[in-house]
Amino acid sequence: MFTDNEQEKIQIAVFPVAGFGTRFLPATKSTPKEMLPVVDKPLIQYAVEEAYDAGIRNMVFITGRSKWSITEHYDFAYELETELEKRGKKEFMTIVDRIRPRDMNVMFIRQERAMGLGHAVLCSEPIVRNRPFAVLLADDLIYNHYGIQVLKQMCAIYERNQQGVIGVQTVPYEHTHRYGIITAGSRLDDRTYRIEDIVEKPAVEEAPSDLAVIGRYILPGRIMQILANTQTGAGGEIQLTDAIKVLLKDKTILAYRFEGERYDCGDKLGYLQANVQMGIHNRDFGEDFKEYLRSLDL
Ligand code: UTP
Repeated sequence: MFTDNEQEKIQIAVFPVAGFGTRFLPATKSTPKEMLPVVDKPLIQYAVEEAYDAGIRNMVFITGRSKWSITEHYDFAYELETELEKRGKKEFMTIVDRIRPRDMNVMFIRQERAMGLGHAVLCSEPIVRNRPFAVLLADDLIYNHYGIQVLKQMCAIYERNQQGVIGVQTVPYEHTHRYGIITAGSRLDDRTYRIEDIVEKPAVEEAPSDLAVIGRYILPGRIMQILANTQTGAGGEIQLTDAIKVLLKDKTILAYRFEGERYDCGDKLGYLQANVQMGIHNRDFGEDFKEYLRSLDL
């Protein structure tokens, strides 16, 4: 399952999907927010495709209560597949096949209590062990409409530097209280910085910068030992940001200002924006959709 060059390439992606999604109630009462569709695909599928496109074949989902539909989405649907084959529906068979390519491994670990993102990541330790790995938060839909997808961009940086990489984006200062915010140190290039410090959800007057951590990480396996010793922080949860802060004491971690559009699909407005943007860029009906939008008397 894992090859020997584990130092050079990222082989595991972790998808924490055990959160409550309270900002998206009532839809998320029984439906995981990661299964909400943007145009025609659930959010989780965008994230998994991004990881697959970056060369990763081992997908680890950290699930919780009411998340069974994610497991179903990544299981083989024997009846559906047989039926489509019998009816000669090739086009639909391809759509179903693409969800889970044959060379992709999927693994599920249950986070029994939603004790925070850091805790969710720690749940993947029995699989990740001491290997470097990627973390993707599917509710951050990030799409580069014009080129290479973001995790692939980040894997290239990891492979060049053999150092952890965290995806960041500039945000308005009045929004810093929603994110982990980094203090950027020296630059490697226009988009890549060494991280000096990181703080979870600072108030605007305490924010060290406007560079916010967005849901894409490449982390060294060492973070697991740190997470195991991390106490609950902001919101009574085990925060990944707190563990990264400790990691920075003995490892260089890079911040990368990625190329791509990010839509916060854990938030209702962000989700609507994602649907409009992905609709506009849709190859089959994008032009018709634009036409429709233009016709609206707003
Ligand atoms: P969020 O902060 O977006 O939390 O978590 P949430 O609970 O999903 O959403 P709200 O704030 O209640 O609306 C960031 C990511 O971490 C996962 C979530 O599923 C999401 O992808 N997560 C969070 C877990 O897997 N477990 C947790 O205990 C907390």
